[in-house]
Amino acid sequence: MANIERDGFGSRFGVLVAVAGSAVGLGNLWRFPYMVGNNGGAAFIILYLFFVILLCLPIMFSEFVIGRRTQSNAFGAIKKIAPKSGWLSIGVISVVASICIMSFYSVVGGWTLEYIFKSFSPDFLTSDSTSLANQFSGFSQSSFMPVAMHLLFLTLSALIVVAGVKNGIEKYSKILMPMLFILVLLLAIRSLTLDGAGEGVRFLLYPDFSKITGETMLAALGQAFFSLSLGMGCIITYGSYVNRKENLFKISFMSAFADTGFAILAGLAVMPAVFAFGISPGQGPSLVFITLPQIFAQMPFGSIISIAFFFILLIAAITSAISLLEVVVAYFTEELKMTRKVAVVVTFIIIGLFGTFSSLSQGPLSDVKIFGKTFFDLFDYASSNVLLPVGGLLVVLFVGWRMKRADVLDELTSGGTIALRKSLFSGIMLVIKFLAPIAISIVLLNSIF
Ligand code: PHE
Repeated sequence: MANIERDGFGSRFGVLVAVAGSAVGLGNLWRFPYMVGNNGGAAFIILYLFFVILLCLPIMFSEFVIGRRTQSNAFGAIKKIAPKSGWLSIGVISVVASICIMSFYSVVGGWTLEYIFKSFSPDFLTSDSTSLANQFSGFSQSSFMPVAMHLLFLTLSALIVVAGVKNGIEKYSKILMPMLFILVLLLAIRSLTLDGAGEGVRFLLYPDFSKITGETMLAALGQAFFSLSLGMGCIITYGSYVNRKENLFKISFMSAFADTGFAILAGLAVMPAVFAFGISPGQGPSLVFITLPQIFAQMPFGSIISIAFFFILLIAAITSAISLLEVVVAYFTEELKMTRKVAVVVTFIIIGLFGTFSSLSQGPLSDVKIFGKTFFDLFDYASSNVLLPVGGLLVVLFVGWRMKRADVLDELTSGGTIALRKSLFSGIMLVIKFLAPIAISIVLLNSIF
């Protein structure tokens, strides 16, 4: 089954930083803090953790199993096991969801680039929140600059992907991920040592369960999928590049742990500072682009902290964007037989265009609504709250009911070379077959009605 010419990861550390790089992204640093703020703080976090352990880990095993077993892109992988069947919708969802996510992700990536440049200017930081809010809306709602920045961000990501899996994705993840970790840690320490930081920590730790509704549950589930890069073929694709000897269990656990740790660390970097300066945590998406600069302005060496923070955001976004691009690029090269270069260019054009719409929907096109949402919000909502949960549901059903149990075992134990207790395996299969599909369906149905 193995194809000798196929690119792949060169080392275990490489796999880990690439998967963690995909998982840790804007989802942790930009989305998680405002989701927590909007959905009641600690109660949301508990729900989130519950979903990660109970549902996301089994889905991650499942995606890795499909990918490594078939050594194929997300669509090709399903085709190898269940050709000409409805299961192929998993492959379709993967490619569509990648494009949807990138179409707003790259725009936010562009904002991040702009804010790195802004941070160098001496009159950017001010403690006047109205002025910062005006700066952000003035920039994000204009026509030219945000689109240019989105395209610049997309170009940077595409340049890494065009270099390949080992020489592009793996190489850059190895450099960027350790850097990211150190910077976030420093930022969290700075935030936690501010006067009045305790209030923010309390907000993250003491749950108010009355805040939980069907919509909150879907939001937590969607956030967990989004943050762990699940339900859209990303882990199938990366899994197809993982060496046969690697322990898929270990890799899944370590990646999920790294991602969740990172989300919490990001919460600890953001919330204490927000509370210490008496700002409301329920700011929404603008939290990091308005609130944080206001806070940086009031800290010693604020400009340096600001540059560091937006640089962190950029690194996190790029290592995730490359994994999203790779889903589409792998599909184009393997299924449509394009060369890698052509595949990257075609992907660039598609996302460049959709991303432009989503950027313009912040300003000039803000009146154009589909299902009552702007392009930007539609791409976000459709991917996190619809495509990923449905994709995740189909993936567990596929592994639980369509794949041969013996094949799943063979993959999880690397052909019998890794010990796996029988009871543990049975437990996992039980979750994959019954618990996960039922739980995801309940959350989905609950939010519809
Ligand atoms: N996990 C990434 C983040 O948290 C986003 C992402 C989603 C990346 C799906 C790949 C696939 O930012």
